[in-house]
Amino acid sequence: MLVTNNDLLLPAMREAYAVGAFNINNLESLLAVVEAAVEERSPVIVAVTPSSIRYAGLPYVAGLVKTAAERSSVPMSLHLDHGKDFETVTNCISAGFTSVMIDGSHLRFEENIALTKRVVDLAHSKGVSVEAELGRLTGVEESTVEQREAVLTDPDAAGEFVERTGVDSLAVAIGTSHGAYKFKGEPKLDFERLRLIREKVKVPLVLHGASSVPQWIVEKAVKYGAELTGAKGIPEEHIRKAVSLGISKINIDTDLRLAFTAAIREFLTESPKVFDPRKILGSAREAMKEVVKAKMRLFGSSGKA
Ligand code: G3H
Ligand code: 13P
Ligand code: ZN
Repeated sequence: MLVTNNDLLLPAMREAYAVGAFNINNLESLLAVVEAAVEERSPVIVAVTPSSIRYAGLPYVAGLVKTAAERSSVPMSLHLDHGKDFETVTNCISAGFTSVMIDGSHLRFEENIALTKRVVDLAHSKGVSVEAELGRLTGVEESTVEQREAVLTDPDAAGEFVERTGVDSLAVAIGTSHGAYKFKGEPKLDFERLRLIREKVKVPLVLHGASSVPQWIVEKAVKYGAELTGAKGIPEEHIRKAVSLGISKINIDTDLRLAFTAAIREFLTESPKVFDPRKILGSAREAMKEVVKAKMRLFGSSGKA
């Protein structure tokens, strides 16, 4: 069943669990996510970025997710991840997306408000949920207090932003970043900032850049030839704590990419005679599915659908 992010995130916020938003690019990643959700009886957000739309084609990606939603027993949303402009948002809403992110985090505060408000007005008139972002997801490990304040989300500004835009959920910057190289030293998130943001903001909060970069997957990929020196993610106990402090949506892309890559590398090395793409990609689909299921248990969404 296709629903909006509000349908998924408001119960999550009330009951203090988080719903995973998993990035998909193709049939294999979509089926991995949907099958995991069905097996875990978990609500799920299927996330598609503008570059995935360029890769797969908007009608194809929207058609695949809508078909999966019609045929599955769990509620899921079709969500635009990191939409950067009004035109992309409009096209996605026309294609049947039930939720959109407008990422104006690179803009000045007032410009971010203006763009987000414009998207909210359109999306709400069509019954579509909107996520926005305030603060920037850059590595902040070795930065000064002033540099950190410049990129991490300011709690008072977050309260004002949500009030003035009417946005349904807010992505916050507390020290996470996208990709497989999140920290050089000890992983550290600004949980006190998250606590203050939660006090000021009444809508569901979102954590981007939340992959854990599991070392066993990295080791497997490296064993079969990948180069991933220094890859490091968010420890699972940090994710649990973020959920306990009020994060209701968690975005995962990198861990699926790693699982996919490790599985394909292993399969091709261990089964050199196989050249059936279904067998090769099937191994990657299974590996991604196991990662998604583990995330659903970690986030507390298993059994909630
Ligand atoms: O933020 C989301 C992704 O991890 C980046 O995805 O390469 O599809 O733009 P992309
Ligand atoms: P990761 O790179 O940590 O998986 O983050 C993904 C994300 O935030 C997608 O929007
Ligand atoms: Zn993101």
